[in-house]
Amino acid sequence: MTDQLRGDVVLRVNGADRVVNLDNRVTLLDALREHLRLTGTKKGCDHGQCGACTVLVDGQRANSCLLLAVAAGGREVTTVEGLAAGGDLHALQRAFIAHDGFQCGYCTPGQLCSALGMLAEAEEGLPSWAGDDLDSVAPADLDDDEIRERMSGNLCRCGAYAGIVAAVREVARG
Ligand code: FES
Ligand code: FES
Repeated sequence: MTDQLRGDVVLRVNGADRVVNLDNRVTLLDALREHLRLTGTKKGCDHGQCGACTVLVDGQRANSCLLLAVAAGGREVTTVEGLAAGGDLHALQRAFIAHDGFQCGYCTPGQLCSALGMLAEAEEGLPSWAGDDLDSVAPADLDDDEIRERMSGNLCRCGAYAGIVAAVREVARG
């Protein structure tokens, strides 16, 4: 029975196609960590509540603990390992360092991927509850309330929120 549930899946992760043989009940999070050894993406709650497992799927934020790997087949998955380019840290990574946006660092990969997706959402004009106009489609003005609201799916048990907000604010303002 179990063999009937296994099959090859092509995951496109950080620009490279990776073939993995999986039980089709395996989550994207476990596929990344246990099959591809991309352990930057963290497992916190495994229930969609903490955001530690956040990655980008086709550029949009996703909790990889809630997404089956087979559902991510053929889609563009970006993990924290894919943020730096050519040995240079991403601007968000530099800003997190500059503003002490972490303590233990466990939530940080998810915070970084979430911030990257959030900045794109705000630029596209997707509204948030912190905004004045939920019908607006203009790029959002990311003040601290907006940043907190839009990043509220990513918990930090170390309480490094002040640094995280400062880092995201700096990148949002270029
Ligand atoms: Fe996925 Fe917590 S591990 S949301
Ligand atoms: Fe420790 Fe966020 S830095 S959980």
